[in-house]
Amino acid sequence: MSKKNQIVSLVVASFCLLAFPLFAGEGMWLPHLLKALNEEEMHAMGMKINAEDIYSINHGSLKDAIVHFGGGCTGSIISSKGLLLTNHHCGYSFVQSHSTVDNNILKNGFWAQSFEQELSNPGLTATFIREIVDVTDNVLGDIPDSLTSKERQKMILANIAKTKADIRLEPFEKIVIKPFYKGLQYIAFITVTYKDVRLVGVPPESIGKFGGDTDNWAWPRHTGDFSIFRIYVDKDNHPAEYNIDNVPLKPIYHLPVSLDGAAEGDFTLVFGFPGRTNAYLPSIAVKQIIEDFDPAKIAIREQSLGVMKKYMVQSEALKLKYASRFARIANYWKKWIGEREGLIKTDALNHKRALEKRFLDRIDSVAIWKEKYGMVYRAFNDAYTINRDYQLSREIHYEAFAWNSQLMRFMHSIHRLASFERDPNAFNSYKQKIDDRVKGFYDAFDHDIDREIFAKVIAEYFKYMPQHMVSPKMFAKWNELGQSGEKMAAFFYDHSIIADSSAFLRLWKLPKDSLMSALHSDEGFNIINDHISYFYDYIEPGYNDNKLVIDSLQKIYMEGLMTVFPKKRFFPDANSTLRVSYGKVEGYTPNDSTTYTPFTYLNGVIAKYKPGDYEFDLPPKLLELYKNKDYGQYADRKGRLPVCFLGSNHTTGGNSGSPVLDGWGNLIGLNFDRVWEGTMSDYYYDIRLCRNIMVDTRYVLFLIDKLGDCHRLIQEMDLVQPKTENKVKE
Ligand code: ARG
Ligand code: GLU
Repeated sequence: MSKKNQIVSLVVASFCLLAFPLFAGEGMWLPHLLKALNEEEMHAMGMKINAEDIYSINHGSLKDAIVHFGGGCTGSIISSKGLLLTNHHCGYSFVQSHSTVDNNILKNGFWAQSFEQELSNPGLTATFIREIVDVTDNVLGDIPDSLTSKERQKMILANIAKTKADIRLEPFEKIVIKPFYKGLQYIAFITVTYKDVRLVGVPPESIGKFGGDTDNWAWPRHTGDFSIFRIYVDKDNHPAEYNIDNVPLKPIYHLPVSLDGAAEGDFTLVFGFPGRTNAYLPSIAVKQIIEDFDPAKIAIREQSLGVMKKYMVQSEALKLKYASRFARIANYWKKWIGEREGLIKTDALNHKRALEKRFLDRIDSVAIWKEKYGMVYRAFNDAYTINRDYQLSREIHYEAFAWNSQLMRFMHSIHRLASFERDPNAFNSYKQKIDDRVKGFYDAFDHDIDREIFAKVIAEYFKYMPQHMVSPKMFAKWNELGQSGEKMAAFFYDHSIIADSSAFLRLWKLPKDSLMSALHSDEGFNIINDHISYFYDYIEPGYNDNKLVIDSLQKIYMEGLMTVFPKKRFFPDANSTLRVSYGKVEGYTPNDSTTYTPFTYLNGVIAKYKPGDYEFDLPPKLLELYKNKDYGQYADRKGRLPVCFLGSNHTTGGNSGSPVLDGWGNLIGLNFDRVWEGTMSDYYYDIRLCRNIMVDTRYVLFLIDKLGDCHRLIQEMDLVQPKTENKVKE
């Protein structure tokens, strides 16, 4: 049997043996395998359509309405004119870039009342998946088992390149090939990317981000987290760069939009591009996340957030400037706190250990299993132990020197330039390449705030960093300056040319030799330049070598799990490819005395309202609409306006903006978050606690129609009432 057939049959056989009734929840499934793996269960849970309606290469199907939005989020097409729905927080930086203190659309909202008013967004893309093809045979077929990890990796890359070259594509198509099940399977995605994506509408931030970072990752939730864009194309309906003459996309398929919503227990399906999960880690790896990695990252971010917050509440201009950055850093800071708590509270480590014990018990009785998999945990322990300091240092380096200090992040570009010092051609061409970036950086550089952040962050860096992993020069400076974050900040920000905008830009005009000799006579530059080299020469390669070993063990382990537990169903970890998650509308019980129902309503929004508050303010017009109960066709049968709801769909970062569909394939909501107690689901999924949070389509429609008065958008959509038509009782 070929490797591909082996793996598909491992996956399929294991599922067929499963006894009904099933409760889905865990899993992010591949659209082209739904028929074989999931359809029966989906029907049993209430899905009315078929797998072929979700993914087909023969006719338009749901997948033709799903886009990877800006590379990191998901969006869906909701009209025959290329209207695209995604989250508010996914469109955030684009809305921010159109905003000024005088015309602050982030704050006030924006509704284009005609095609002409729709705003272009350079750099923003929307990518569709045309076809999914299993290419495991092409990638793995001729690779002998005897190779080392490095040799294997090299051959895989060569085979991927060859496979790509062999597939015929239209000029506007691309192909991406990615590993699944830890490299047991390889799948190709034929994609089409659109580059003219315009902003059409967005509610005021007070609605789109209602509850801010206080409510983020939490339930009960009352956020109208959506924004609307439109894809434009050339006259042939093909992708094109922005052009005033471009016209709205005529999509292959667009989603009907439901006015009926969903009731508790109803089937739900989330279709999108989940980014990364790690469901098959051994216990030692989870232990490192809980004890080492999460605490260090949380501590560093906490410092920089404190400084940013202090300035953002003081001035609207600074708030606007830091809004997107703050939200990005705060988002994962809070997620890691919840994740760590969740892993501890659910006793994930002991569950993993118990699984490991069962695994070892089972392989004991089969000689060939014992031979193949018997060493796996011991090998994991060695590899993860060796890797610990490398991974910790790597994560801390990124936090302290890339994500939180803007100057230090920028220095990575200058470090790269300096690395070409002995190659004038490469030097000059790279210098030209980053010319705009350098000028842009110093123009926007907020010296004092960044300095204050660095002073705090560098102190945390030294607290958590394994000492032997710090570059010797940086470490010497730290000791020389009495281990003071403030003095380190003074050294780099007050006494070095790197933080002096006008001096640096003056140097920047000099020819290579004068520029480099000036930089080399600056002690601050030399230390940071050396520090970054040390990272790339020592930490990064060490980490990558360990990773190769770990990855090959994870692959053996994945195969072992699938073989040894044939009745268990396994999904491939998320890897930013198109997936289907499904579950039900359901609440949860986070502790012995609290049970949450799965719905929130506009009256809950109003109950949280705090006039003038940073996170819980509301626009007067919404208050007015509430007072008059002016909900139009968007109220439920009891006259309430639904806002958010919960489901047991397995989602992760990247699923933001994913459409949520009912059993008939109509749009009932928009995924945007997970609940606090379930944020550990990237590593450990617990059906009792893991819930995704969605904004109800009816709230979105209400805001477009009644708050934004953007009736033309409502007219463009196909509004449906599936429950009324099918007379389903609520
Ligand atoms: N937690 C959600 C997600 O990971 C929403 C983030 C945006 N909202 C915010 N308040 N920062 O992306
Ligand atoms: N808000 C997340 C995102 O940006 C989705 C929520 C999650 O991580 O589950 O993709």
